[in-house]
Amino acid sequence: MTDPLQHRLDAALRLAGVASGRGTLKGWQDWVTEADQTIERFLSASLAAAFPDDGFQGEEGGVSRGGSLRWVIDPIDGTSNYARGANRFCISIACLEGNTPLIGVIAAPTVGETVSARRGQGAFLNGAAIRAAETSDPRQAIMEVGWSRRRSAAEYLAVCERVLGGGSSLRHGGSGALGLVDVAIGRLDGYAELHINLWDVAAALAILREAGAAVSDFLAADGAPDGNGIFACAPGLAEVWSDLPGLPRALTAD
Ligand code: IPD
Repeated sequence: MTDPLQHRLDAALRLAGVASGRGTLKGWQDWVTEADQTIERFLSASLAAAFPDDGFQGEEGGVSRGGSLRWVIDPIDGTSNYARGANRFCISIACLEGNTPLIGVIAAPTVGETVSARRGQGAFLNGAAIRAAETSDPRQAIMEVGWSRRRSAAEYLAVCERVLGGGSSLRHGGSGALGLVDVAIGRLDGYAELHINLWDVAAALAILREAGAAVSDFLAADGAPDGNGIFACAPGLAEVWSDLPGLPRALTAD
């Protein structure tokens, strides 16, 4: 018999694929909220049927069920892109035990990429192993800085100024989950955001750890029920970028 976590990882991979179809069929702009809700309802019902004792939290409906294993999902991360017909958005599905991310699946349907990880068993892009970049020189580095109106423009600009001042390039892609995944794949050297919600990062936390990235302890303060700052980077840059203004430090694996 399949072990319980492998069963959950297989389910998350299958459901991410099916949910991707449901969301994109809905179309753009006017249907964003409806697509969000449709995907979240589908995932909630499917996971409740398969794992009735597991908890569930989604971006749209909040915490609807409790359990020692709990699913945290973002039905569409990168909503601003999705709403305008751009392809940088994804479905993010995580399974945590308490505050430890065990499984992460992030599916970006329009680019045909699915990234997955199970704690202790590596991280994969469409089945091929991934690893964070080996970059150690900030002048060779690309950092994505995520932004929302939950923090001021001045705070955001202070981070950008430090990153640019150190010789790195900047990017903003509009999906926190995919920005973090790009650090895990080695396409980016860092992702920083002053405040972000758990459902945006939960799956990526499992993936980043397995890909050998340095990542801040997002869940340290009681599981960050109201969100937290996030910072993840190539391990060779964790020291150089250890004091970015307003951001937590990224920790390398033990
Ligand atoms: C947002 C995206 C964005 C990040 C915001 C998030 P949503 O999530 O991840 O990139 O900067 O903090 O709220 O609304 O697209 O699910």
